Amino acid sequence: MKRGAFITVEGVEGVGKSTCLAAIERSLRESGRPVLVTREPGGTTLGERVRELILDEHEGGLSGPIEALLIFAARARHLQRIIVPALADGRWVVCDRFTDATYAYQGGGRGVDRHALEVMAQMVQEGLEPDLTLLLDAPVEVGLQRISEREHDRFEKENFSFFERVRRSYLEIAARAPQRVRTINADRPLDDVTGELLKVLQQFIAEFTGAAR
Ligand SMILES: Nc1ncnc2c1ncn2[C@@H]1O[C@H](COP(=O)(O)OP(=O)(O)OP(=O)(O)O)[C@@H](O)[C@H]1O
Ligand SMILES: [Mg+2]
Repeated sequence: MKRGAFITVEGVEGVGKSTCLAAIERSLRESGRPVLVTREPGGTTLGERVRELILDEHEGGLSGPIEALLIFAARARHLQRIIVPALADGRWVVCDRFTDATYAYQGGGRGVDRHALEVMAQMVQEGLEPDLTLLLDAPVEVGLQRISEREHDRFEKENFSFFERVRRSYLEIAARAPQRVRTINADRPLDDVTGELLKVLQQFIAEFTGAAR
């Protein structure tokens, strides 16, 4: 059996990842594909505990390297327990953030050495990369404005320049991997964003399933 596709959704806070994830899930289900939706950090008991630790403001300023190590530990578990078995089982896995987020937040945002992150990525992913990454891009203030009513966690209280570095890192990743990473302008009405997103998704499905034959 052909394995399922591994799709990740990325972008800074409030750009619309969760909203778009739901649209992707709906579209895949409508076309009769078995789907697994998950998120990082998270997806397993260990992953959700790591998420709590990282977002807990009372934990008191975890350093970039500590965050990176925790996140990759959670990612190893997530891959082993959830993602790899689901893909092997023919399911399409849609994940809210993955390793690109670690390059963007812990690398670009907190200054963790890129090479160190690459070594950890190699260790836990063993060559598995997303088949498609949808990067939702909008000015930082647009995303932060969209979530301004919500309770803010530790990351959301970071200063503006932190998120600017994160956004820039994401755009650099997209420039380096244009085949895998598709950047979508998220600074538009939601219908326009999901419209383009689903078009890119349909194109990807055609390529991915065509390649399987
Ligand atoms: N294109 C858009 N135009 C206007 N509002 C939007 C758009 N996309 C999403 N929103 C709204 O912005 C808010 C944040 O969206 P969403 O939760 O999907 O973002 P997110 O990227 O998942 O955020 P987080 O990084 O915090 O998980 C929601 O209230 C959503 O309805
Ligand atoms: Mg979200």
